[in-house]
Amino acid sequence: MEKPKLISEDGVRVDGRRLDELRPIKMEVGVLDKSDGSAYVEFGKTKVFAAVFGPREVHPKHLALPERAILNCRYHMTSFSVEDRKPLGMTRREVELSKVIREALESIVFLEEFPRTSIDIYVEVIQADGGTRTTGLTAASLALADAGIPMADMIAAVAVGKVEGHLVLDVCDIEDKYGEADLPVAMAPRLNSIVLLQLNGRLSREEFQKAMALAREGISKIYQMQREALKRKYSSVEEG
Ligand code: CDP
Repeated sequence: MEKPKLISEDGVRVDGRRLDELRPIKMEVGVLDKSDGSAYVEFGKTKVFAAVFGPREVHPKHLALPERAILNCRYHMTSFSVEDRKPLGMTRREVELSKVIREALESIVFLEEFPRTSIDIYVEVIQADGGTRTTGLTAASLALADAGIPMADMIAAVAVGKVEGHLVLDVCDIEDKYGEADLPVAMAPRLNSIVLLQLNGRLSREEFQKAMALAREGISKIYQMQREALKRKYSSVEEG
């Protein structure tokens, strides 16, 4: 397919956004009954549920660690989340994303407080339109907070892209597909710590610095929305 024009002369993107604009975002915590904590997060057309169980007994028991909890994470895309025919089993991509999401979360959860237990996190992509790992991480950390799991901070995440020579915040699928670079970034903002950073494509040193500044701006807005989503649930519990 021929590459469509993605940014107009006056800097407007395919979906009408400015270069530094996030997609419309929705966040809600405590959306599922069976898990200990849950969240639903939407970035434009990207829609993700996250659910957390635990700390609970490890199965099989011999995998338990005497000094800390095990964090298990499964990132999965539903068969109807993408246009292509997605295999039913876990793809290599899903295994990789489960690992990077887990590693990011391990850096903020106080695992040593729950020896011999496991904390199990499920990230389920309902619809994918770019940025599912960042949306998944944002949802997973909300679900952990909803489960009452002690953490040093929450994680907020977004991807910056380079499209037709411009740096753009919060890339959607078509920008990811036809763009020159894609830089997913996740941070624990209160700790000022970067917990995930991947780069697909090429950026100059100067572009990288600008992209990181753009990511930080987006992340601080997302973090604020996460705090509000948590407050919405817990203030309504107090009132009710
Ligand atoms: O989703 P994320 O940007 O974190 O990861 P990616 O591997 O860079 O994928 C970018 C986008 O490609 C996804 O969000 C989907 O919209 C799309 N994709 C797809 O259409 N089919 C797949 N099997 C995998 C990804």
